[in-house]
Amino acid sequence: MLEKFSKWKSNFTATEDAAPGTELDLDNIPKHVAIIMDGNGRWAKERGLPRVAGHREGMKVVNKIVRTANALGVEFLTLYAFSTENWKRPKTEVDFLLRLPERYLKSELPTLISENVQVRLMGQPEGLPSYTLRAVEEAVEKTKHNTGLVLNFALNYGSRYEMAEAMRAIARKVKQGELSVEEVDEDLIGTYLMSGAMRDPDLLIRTSGEIRLSNFMLWQLAYSEFWFTDVLWPDFEAAHFHEAVSVYQQRGRRYGGI
Ligand code: FPP
Repeated sequence: MLEKFSKWKSNFTATEDAAPGTELDLDNIPKHVAIIMDGNGRWAKERGLPRVAGHREGMKVVNKIVRTANALGVEFLTLYAFSTENWKRPKTEVDFLLRLPERYLKSELPTLISENVQVRLMGQPEGLPSYTLRAVEEAVEKTKHNTGLVLNFALNYGSRYEMAEAMRAIARKVKQGELSVEEVDEDLIGTYLMSGAMRDPDLLIRTSGEIRLSNFMLWQLAYSEFWFTDVLWPDFEAAHFHEAVSVYQQRGRRYGGI
C-alpha cells in the first residue's frame, strides 16, 4: 500500500527527462529494471511503414528511457535488443537490428560517458557481426570506470542457452575436481550466468500486449515483479516507465514468505 512509505516524495521533478507527474517514492526505486522492448513491427505496420522504421523509432525510445532510468536512480537497466531466436527473421531485418547498437552508440556514447553510464553486453559475442561487437566493446571499454547506471544490452541473448552453457562450465569443473557436487548451489549457478554478479531484476517490463518471457532471463526473473502494457515500444514514454515503477511500489514483495 502506498501509505506505508514513510519517505514519500510527491511530484517528482528531478529533471525534464525523468519527467511526468506520477508520484514516486525515491527510496523504493527498483534497482534493476529489465525490459522486453516489443511492438516495433506492429507500430510500423499501423503506419504503412517497413518494419525497420519501427526499430529505428524504437532506438530513439531507448535513448529516452536510459535517461529516465538514470535520473530516477535505477542502478541496472537491461534491454532485450536481439534474441538468439531473432536470427529467424529476414536477413535485411536482422542486419538492420544488428546495426542499431553501432548507430545508437555513435551518436550517444559521448553523452553516456558524461552521464556516468556504464555499458555492458549480455549475450554470445560469437555470431555477432564485427561492427556490432566493435561498437559495443568500445562502449564497454570507455565506460568501464563509470559508476552510474549500468546499461546492459542483451544482444544475441537466450536464457536457455545461457543456462546450458553455465551447466556445461560447472560440469567441467566438477569433472576436473575443481568443484564438488555439494558446492553447486543457487548462488554458484548465478555466478556462471551471463548476468554474472549483477543483481536479479526487481522489475520486468514488456510492451505491446504480449504476456510471455520469450526466453529472457528465466533464472534471474524468479522473484521479479512483472508489468505488462499494451503500449507499443516506439510509443513508450517516460510517463509509462514512471507508471511501471509506481505499480512496482504498490506491490508487496514476499519472496515466498508471508
Ligand atoms: C521486438 O519487436 C523488438 C526487437 C526484436 C528489437 C528491439 C530493438 C530495439 C527497440 C532497438 C534497440 C536499440 C539499440 C540501441 C540496441 P518486434 O519487431 O517483434 O515487434 P512486433 O512484435 O510488433 O513485430
